[in-house]
Amino acid sequence: MKKIIVANWKLNPSSQKEAEQLFDAVKEGVKDLESAKVIICPPYVYLSLLKGLTLGSQNVSYQEKGAFTGQVSALMLKDLGVEYVIIGHSEARQYLAEKNEDINKKIKECLEEGLKIIFCIGEQDGEDKETVLKQQIEEGLDGVSDVENIIVAYEPVWAIGTGKNCSIEETKSSVALIKKLLGQISIKILYGGSVNAENASGYLNEADVDGLLVGGASLKAEEFIKIVASA
Ligand code: PGA
Repeated sequence: MKKIIVANWKLNPSSQKEAEQLFDAVKEGVKDLESAKVIICPPYVYLSLLKGLTLGSQNVSYQEKGAFTGQVSALMLKDLGVEYVIIGHSEARQYLAEKNEDINKKIKECLEEGLKIIFCIGEQDGEDKETVLKQQIEEGLDGVSDVENIIVAYEPVWAIGTGKNCSIEETKSSVALIKKLLGQISIKILYGGSVNAENASGYLNEADVDGLLVGGASLKAEEFIKIVASA
């Protein structure tokens, strides 16, 4: 089974030129790497510019259309050829005040339009992991039956962008917990949080994950290609 390696560029880079350079370098570097599926999630404004690798969006509106200033719809993304949408990222939960209820609406709207979901969950430092993950899963996937098109990304918030990646052992036990919480449902699970070229293969080979969600390290083509190569 191919591993899934997702690049989350977040609010980077700052120009079309840099976005194209990064994308082209990654495209060239991963073209013979058959053991991984690469998904690039740039800011919305670059989505129509980048061609030749699978694209994902970093967020979406749950509204279909209308008077919702600043929003981008699932239908618009689909029309651009985007295949995946990151939903429930901790930065959207934190800075855009997204609640599990909003996330649930977004998941349903995207599935309806035929988009695939990268559904992010994870506990903050000091929170009870099982309680948080259970609530995020139950409320986020409430009433959702089309789970074939959903990938769960486990991203402990304390590990994101901090350089303090989650240990392989803890990741493994979190993955087992998530599988238990999902019950009968079989969903692919990614790990994210300070993944880099050094630690990637440990996760891919020893932590029972189906792939990785990479933030900071996806902005350096060479490093990201190494991560893909470790799959
Ligand atoms: P990071 O981000 O790799 O920079 O920790 C991961 C993410 O937020 O998806």
